[in-house]
Amino acid sequence: MANINDYNKNIIPFYRPANFIVDRAKGSFVWDKNNKKYIDFTAGIAVTNLGHNNKDLVKVLNDQAKQLWHLSPLYINQPAIDLSKKLCNKTFADRVYFCNSGAESVESAIKIARKYTSSFHKKKSEIISFSSSFHGRTMTSISLAKSKHLTEGFAPLLKGIRQHKYNKVGDLKKHFSENTSAVILELVQWHDGIIKADKKFLTEIKRLSKKYKSLIIIDEVQSGIGRTGTFFAYEQFNIKPDILCFAKGIANGFPIGGVLTTEKISKKMSYGSHGTTFGGGPIACAIGSKVVDLISKKKLLGDVFKKEKFFLEKINEFNEKYECFEDVKSAGLWISIHFNKNLTPFSVDELIAKCHSNGLMILKANETSVRFSPSLIIENDLIVKGMKIFHDTVLSLLK
Ligand SMILES: Cc1ncc(COP(=O)(O)O)c(C=O)c1O
Repeated sequence: MANINDYNKNIIPFYRPANFIVDRAKGSFVWDKNNKKYIDFTAGIAVTNLGHNNKDLVKVLNDQAKQLWHLSPLYINQPAIDLSKKLCNKTFADRVYFCNSGAESVESAIKIARKYTSSFHKKKSEIISFSSSFHGRTMTSISLAKSKHLTEGFAPLLKGIRQHKYNKVGDLKKHFSENTSAVILELVQWHDGIIKADKKFLTEIKRLSKKYKSLIIIDEVQSGIGRTGTFFAYEQFNIKPDILCFAKGIANGFPIGGVLTTEKISKKMSYGSHGTTFGGGPIACAIGSKVVDLISKKKLLGDVFKKEKFFLEKINEFNEKYECFEDVKSAGLWISIHFNKNLTPFSVDELIAKCHSNGLMILKANETSVRFSPSLIIENDLIVKGMKIFHDTVLSLLK
């Protein structure tokens, strides 16, 4: 029988997972090998937006597995056609590229941008990224984010990246020139707690991108697929991307990522210049297609805002009494709570471990913030129960 020691012996220690082995999950519940039940406020890091073990998606997966499993992008499959059509119909995009993860979608977006802009000016290769961003763990992704904990030990990083402070308008223009290929940003950041892009900041990005004929890449790997209450977050921000990165929730946990873009940009790509063996596989695309149908329902998206409000009410009721959260921020069902270190003598890691032992799964944002990203279909009574566990746990650590 497998145990945690076997995990610790055989897996490269890039992660320090919770100290239990997960056995099964359904909706917003998870059970471990000892049959202990947890309420899940993580949804696999904002992925299982339609709940665990969703019966409609399990059916699609089983049906597709029996019919066609894998053939590579060298052969066309119907689910990839269907999913690409649905995504183009729903968004600004004319074209889709499918890959396997969020970081790979960012990698693809940067390559597409450079390929496109270099087609009319050889030196047009610089990328502008922002502080406290997160774009994944490939060399390109960590070079964009630049933060120490991601990059230490991995030098040399990718060249041609300039970074500016997120939401700071002031001297943003100093980074732009004829050599700028693209700007990449998240409209909602999570790495330092939930932070939304300011209106003025986006206006300046749009103005400068237009002036220097550079592209706007929006990373919606985490904010997309209903997480913020619209299918993609950009629908709420009065900005049209040239390239959009998606992954995470698109097949509710079955691995798939991708990039959306326009016909104009897509035309400059050439055969063989980019690709991946698993991209656009029939199972991932069949599930993705069903996810698009289910998430697009007006009621489901409208309920995201209602549930967000409900969460905030519960959090604020508690905080009015105990005043231990310094800041609470949200964007749909994506909520961060920032602790005041002077008022809370426990670490975020301690809090998360204690929540686990009390039957609640939550996420870390950084050393002073936790994050909730439950499934979008979580029931109100589970929000109440989960928040009670959270609050009781905080109180027990304050004693
Ligand atoms: C905004 C954003 N971009 C990219 C990624 C990387 O995605 P993946 O872990 O699938 O490579 C993440 C993952 O958390 C993310 O939040």
